[in-house]
Amino acid sequence: MVDFTYFMPTKIFYGKDCVIKNGTVLSTLGKKAMIVTGHSSAKKNGALTDIRSALEWAGIAWILFDAVEENPSVQTVEQGAALAREKGVDFFIGIGGGSPMDAAKAMACLAANPQKSGEDLYGAAMSHLPVVAIPTTAGTGSEVTQFSVLTRRSMRTKASISTHVFPVFAFLDGKYMDTLSARVTNETAVDALSHLTESYFHAQSNIMSEIAVESGFFMFAKCIPSLRKRNYTSSDRQALLLASNLGGIAIAQTGTSLPHGLGYFLTYEKGIPHGRANGLLMGAYLDLFMEKEGEKIQKMLSLLGFSSLEELKAFFKEVLDTPETFSDAQIKDFTKRVMEAPAKLASFPYPVTEEVIYELYAKSLL
Ligand SMILES: [Fe+2]
Repeated sequence: MVDFTYFMPTKIFYGKDCVIKNGTVLSTLGKKAMIVTGHSSAKKNGALTDIRSALEWAGIAWILFDAVEENPSVQTVEQGAALAREKGVDFFIGIGGGSPMDAAKAMACLAANPQKSGEDLYGAAMSHLPVVAIPTTAGTGSEVTQFSVLTRRSMRTKASISTHVFPVFAFLDGKYMDTLSARVTNETAVDALSHLTESYFHAQSNIMSEIAVESGFFMFAKCIPSLRKRNYTSSDRQALLLASNLGGIAIAQTGTSLPHGLGYFLTYEKGIPHGRANGLLMGAYLDLFMEKEGEKIQKMLSLLGFSSLEELKAFFKEVLDTPETFSDAQIKDFTKRVMEAPAKLASFPYPVTEEVIYELYAKSLL
């Protein structure tokens, strides 16, 4: 059995209206907050209204930074942190999918370290202000992870910053997902399933992470019919949110693996949404385990309710839209870039060669 450390310090509030019911805990974090969101979704789904009410009842002043783009850049994070310093912010509240939550974590680092620049986020770990996370998609799990993945233009890909920033509080309310489109719901659900799967087959997978993963597969299975129909009840939304959260708890212990590492190039170069990029690579990735981890594959399939790996692969195709086209030259370029920064390869429990990476891309995308 693999040695492990288990650490998950985020206090989770789960349930309808949990922000309003528990918002007074925010007063333990300071007197002024910066709410970090994308341009519009937090306004549409009601999360912004709830957090503003909770802050006002708790007597906490707040400012809004609502300019986080999808796959946020280091530059956006620098802008938010500069504003937070200027206004004397004590803590951050990230509301949204992974992008605003991850941006809030990175801003919390730079706000606490005025002498540092955005590029320093990839240097030595640094101190940070507290962060609160409110997910409004069921996919990223960022509300319970230490990771903040930003677009790093200097490396032409996405990469997680060096400092680990676990949110202090996470508020999980499925009602914020009611306004999500079917496309975003399905793509983010595939991201959640990728987290569960990549953690399960990760070199660092251990008894504690597997408890989270197996419960996550079980929750995810309940939502499979709705993901296929692209029609979701509120109990589906809640189950998906829990599956996503369990995926976050799992990858907080193990990290992600090859589909994430390889998929970041698809997002950076072709603008393919993150969950979808993972989903395109997942079938060929799972094929790599058929021989050595057959029993574990069977356990995963049975928890998800599939009778074969082929059926799971067909599910990925069914819930995602038509694949984009790629050329062999592009795939060779992605392969070369994966091999130039090989840290992610250590997540795979067996030796990985350049040929394996090329084949994984080729089987998935050509
Ligand atoms: Fe992800």
